[in-house]
Amino acid sequence: MKTNVALIGFMGTGKTAVGRRLAGKLGRRFIELDSVIERKAGKSIPEIFVEDGEIAFRELEIATTKEVARTERAVIACGGGVILNRINIDRLKEGAVIIHLTAPPGVILKRTLREAGKRPLLDVENPLATIRELLKFRKPLYERAADVTINTAGLDINAVAEQIIEKLKEDESFAW
Ligand code: S3P
Repeated sequence: MKTNVALIGFMGTGKTAVGRRLAGKLGRRFIELDSVIERKAGKSIPEIFVEDGEIAFRELEIATTKEVARTERAVIACGGGVILNRINIDRLKEGAVIIHLTAPPGVILKRTLREAGKRPLLDVENPLATIRELLKFRKPLYERAADVTINTAGLDINAVAEQIIEKLKEDESFAW
C-alpha cells in the first residue's frame, strides 16, 4: 500500500501551496523536495544553477528524491523537473500516489512572475516561449508518470486539495 502523495507538474502549477494544504487536511507531513535540496547544498536553487550548473542540480535532485521517497505518510511536493530522470519517478511510485497538476502557459507565466528570480530556467528574455517549449518536451513525461491529473486553472488551493482527496478515495493502492 502507498502512504505518500507526490505532487508533480510544471513550475507554477501550485505543487507547494496545494501540497501544504493537502498535508494539513490529511494529517500528513509536508516535504518540499527543493527545500531539502537547498538545505543539503547550503544554498538556494538559483545559486546552485549559477555556481554549479543544472547537471549538478539534477544529481542533487536524484539523491534527495531517493531519500525522501523512503519516508512514509508524507505529502511530497517535487520540483518541476523531477520527471526528467525516470529513476526519480520509479522510486517515488513505490510509496506514493502521483498527482500531476497542470495549468495553461499563460497562467504559469503569471504565477511564476509573482515569484521572479526563484526559477533560473525561466530567467530568460521570453519566458512564455520557454514555458511553451519546456512543456512540449515534458508533457509526455508528466503524463506517463501520473496516476491522476488535475487542471488547476480557475481553481483555488483548497479546491485542488479537495479534488485530490476525492481521487485518493477512488485509489485502492492508497492507505489512509
Ligand atoms: C525546475 C523547477 C523548480 C526547481 C528548479 C528546476 C524545473 O521547482 O526544482 O528551478 O526544471 O522545472 P518548482 O517546480 O517548484 O518551481
